[in-house]
Order: sequence, then C-alpha cells, then structure tokens
Amino acid sequence: MKEEILKLLREETDYVSGQELCRRFQVSRTAVWKVVGQLRSEGYEIEAVRNRGYRLVNAEDVYSEKELAGQLHTVWAGRPLHFFETIGSTNVRAKTEAEEGAGHGTLIVADMQTAGRGRRGRDWSSPGGLNLYYSLLLRPEFSPDKASMLTLVMACAVVRGMKKLPELSGADIGIKWPNDIVMNGRKICGILTEMSAERDYIQYVVIGCGINVGKQEFGEELAKKATSLEAELGQKISRSRLLSEILEAFEEIYGEFAAALSLEKLKDSYNEMLVNRNRQVCVLDPAGEYRGTAKGINDAGELLVELPDGRVREVFAGEVSVRGIYGYV
Ligand code: BTN
Repeated sequence: MKEEILKLLREETDYVSGQELCRRFQVSRTAVWKVVGQLRSEGYEIEAVRNRGYRLVNAEDVYSEKELAGQLHTVWAGRPLHFFETIGSTNVRAKTEAEEGAGHGTLIVADMQTAGRGRRGRDWSSPGGLNLYYSLLLRPEFSPDKASMLTLVMACAVVRGMKKLPELSGADIGIKWPNDIVMNGRKICGILTEMSAERDYIQYVVIGCGINVGKQEFGEELAKKATSLEAELGQKISRSRLLSEILEAFEEIYGEFAAALSLEKLKDSYNEMLVNRNRQVCVLDPAGEYRGTAKGINDAGELLVELPDGRVREVFAGEVSVRGIYGYV
C-alpha cells in the first residue's frame, strides 16, 4: 500500500484528502497516517493540511531502490534494479551477477563505491550522497567485435538523458570521443565497458557510468578537467530522475543499434554532440603520436582524423586516446 500511496501522491499536484486515500485503499485514517510517517522517515517531504489532505512536496532528494524503481519507465533496461548504499564497484558486482546468470537489462546502482574503477586501471573516486554510479548488464546477441560501439551508445544516451531534464536542456554538454561526457569543457561523466566473450560469442557486457552530479572538491589538478552538473548549473539535480531518463534513452538507442549493428543511424546525432569535432587533436597511438583535426565518427565508431597532408586516418578507441592540443577537449 505504501508504494501505491506514494504513486498517487506523485501523480497528483494538488492535495489528496485522507478520506480519499482511505476509500481507495480500504484502510483506516490511522493506517494512512502510519504510511505517511514511514514515507517521511524515508526522506519524502509530505505536507499534511487539515481539511485538505496530503501533498508530496519534494521527492528529489530521495535516492533509494524504491524511488529509482518508481521513476523508471523502461521496458527492460534497469529490470531488475539492485541498489546498494555502499559497494566496492558496481561493475564488479554486475560481472559477478552476470556469472551467476543475471539477465539482459540488470542494473546495479550504488550511492557510494569504495573501490570505483576507471579506465586504464585508474581509480574512480566515488563519495556517497552526491553522484551517480551504475552498471548495466547486457547480453547482446551479436559478435564481440561490435561491442566497443556500445560505449558510444551509452555516451549518447547519457547526453540525451541529461538534455531531457528541463534544467539541463540548454546546457553545453557534449561528448569527448570516445566516451567522456563534458560540460562547459570539463569532464562530468566517465564510462567503463567490460566484456566477457569467446571468439565469436558475447557472454555479457557491463557498461559502468560514473556521473558527477553534486558539488564536490576535486583537488587542484583534477579540478582543471573535471566538474559536476550542480557546480556548473548552480542548482540541484535529482539523481533518480536523471538515471531514469538515461536508461530510457539507452533503451531506445540500443534498439536502433542492435537492429542495424552499425552506428549509421546514430552517427549524425553523435557527431553533433562531439565536442572535439573540427578541433586539433593529438592521437596518442602506441606506434607513435600524431596530430590532426577530428572530423567525427564513422559507422563503426572510429574517429576520423584528418592529417595535415589531407589524408584521413580512422582511430579505433581500444588502442589509443585522443587529447586536445589546447586543453582537455
Ligand atoms: C573513466 O575512467 O572515465 C571511466 C569511469 C567509470 C566509473 C564508473 S562508476 C560506476 C562503474 N563502477 C566502477 O567501478 N566504474 C564505473
């Protein structure tokens, strides 16, 4: 009954009378009052006004499995969803669950990570009460060589999801190839994709995302290239709303990608989000660094870099990274 009362209060912008709640759920006023008390203790701000009833004032700050599940409108992404107050790493947990048979769409979310992992063996600082840390488990039925494109699919979904929030719809948010999300030129999100596969068969893919939502201290060096949504916006963002928008966007884009097994349909939209498009970049290739102008991605997600002599090279994300010549982007 608690979930149903919450759902009703969420849907209603006006007060819902106690009498109406009693009638709908066939319970006493005391029972309704008890449920309201429980919801309040979970962090929901519920106003109670004599002769008018109850009104949900603010669910933005509540971050729990129930709140997340209540916001989610997807068909398969985030179903099931497992929420942890504290965990080592959501990616590690998702991989363990995958080994134990968890299905396509399973989502692991944590408020805090004690051993968050970044790309290239780096740590991912993951303090509690501030940010989004989640890992989505996929069991794609295509060949392993296509899997690296999934990271780009998630990058697009993150940007689209962010832009769905009215507070962020006009924000300067884009992608630094292949998969860092940047706002006003600094990183706000990193993506770590891990796969278990045989030569021609994917067992599972885990896409982990860390999004800097709340204002936080980054330390002098990191502060030059990292920031958070709230620091840039000067306003609070609901983590659960954001996550649900991202998952909805992911589900849609993944559907298109899995049907075509190419980024052809997504390419233009990705390239519009690409912050290093038409910029000078330095390609850190183990075989030797070189410079050129980033032109956008091709259907396989490779970055097209035009060299000074006019030749175009296709850069594959797995092997190299790309750095801006005049700064992080
Ligand atoms: C990067 O280095 O840019 C990628 C960072 C990925 C961090 C996320 S947070 C959720 C998930 N769990 C992890 O341990 N890492 C990813």
